[in-house]
Amino acid sequence: MSDGRIDLSGQVAIVTGAAGGLGRAYALALAARGAAIVVNDLGGDTRGAGTGTALAEAVAGEIRARGGRAVASADTVATRAGGEAITRAALDHFGRIDILVNNAGNQRNALFEDLTDEDIEAVLAVHLKGAFFVTQPAYRLMKRQGYGRIIFTGSQSGTFGNPYRANYGAAKMGVIGLMRVLVQEAPPEIRINCVMPNASGSRMGAPGEDRVDKDFIAAILARGNAYADRSAPDYCAALVTWLASPACNLTGQTWSVLRGHYARMFSGRTAGWAGPRDGGPPSAEDIAAHVGAIGDAAFWHEPQSGIDEGDIVRAALDREYGNMEIR
Ligand code: NAI
Repeated sequence: MSDGRIDLSGQVAIVTGAAGGLGRAYALALAARGAAIVVNDLGGDTRGAGTGTALAEAVAGEIRARGGRAVASADTVATRAGGEAITRAALDHFGRIDILVNNAGNQRNALFEDLTDEDIEAVLAVHLKGAFFVTQPAYRLMKRQGYGRIIFTGSQSGTFGNPYRANYGAAKMGVIGLMRVLVQEAPPEIRINCVMPNASGSRMGAPGEDRVDKDFIAAILARGNAYADRSAPDYCAALVTWLASPACNLTGQTWSVLRGHYARMFSGRTAGWAGPRDGGPPSAEDIAAHVGAIGDAAFWHEPQSGIDEGDIVRAALDREYGNMEIR
């Protein structure tokens, strides 16, 4: 590491959904840096239907053929038993867990009003509950070890919104909420981040659904043709490799990769409006009169926690009205 090169020799990584477009790229990239990999994938189709070990075995075999260490796991992330089995595979075969990449995903796209209970449950189960079920046992172990790197997977479909994906977008934003709480609790030697990937070479990138507006999707995909050569999963794998490494000294952040363009995403709070000093709450009409200032994003803060937001507001009120405590 002294030359700045990321070396994961001796480390152990779990990559869920590692037979898919992005997961496979992550697994190969981490293995190329020397990490032993638990290649987890339920198999099946992009809707999460069906199972099979063949897909995970194929990627594990690919890693071993390149001289790396890998074991396949076909357990589901979507149950507590599955999450425990995945982490146990890492312990049984390699003795520890340094890196967890929560990447497994499915989709059940439809207009909001058409989503069935099954559509909602299936997607929340894999993306959101799956993030709990795999991360809890892995995190407990990382705490005992005194080291860990956890990567969650969000999506622009939640952060910004894309049509036909209310179930998926909600699950992905739930994952970011989970990450933001976990970083408040985690010791500093465990770094936790979220990647918002985009990759045309992967199965999730293709809608493959019959309940969406095909013309709309075709138009979106056509727009994606610009810089399509920069949408290979390896662009995301480079970021994930850094986030997974000891060199990553940041935590609690969300990172976007889109057409080989990298950016950090965050939740900000506008400078806002302090409201009237005296006389109780403002009226709804007062709010209407100040909504421009309340929503004005020219100045903003990036709270690091809910408690931090409280401190930011208190400082803003102190600036506006003078320090309330010393008056
Ligand atoms: P993919 O469909 O190619 O790979 C996902 C893999 O997860 C599949 O191999 C599937 O078998 C596996 N999987 C599904 N349910 C599982 C379960 N219960 N347990 C274990 N494995 C399971 O999808 P892709 O594109 O590689 O996506 C990877 C992640 O990136 C997903 O979380 C997805 O939501 C996210 N993402 C992808 C984007 C893209 O442009 N490809 C955009 C935004 C987010």
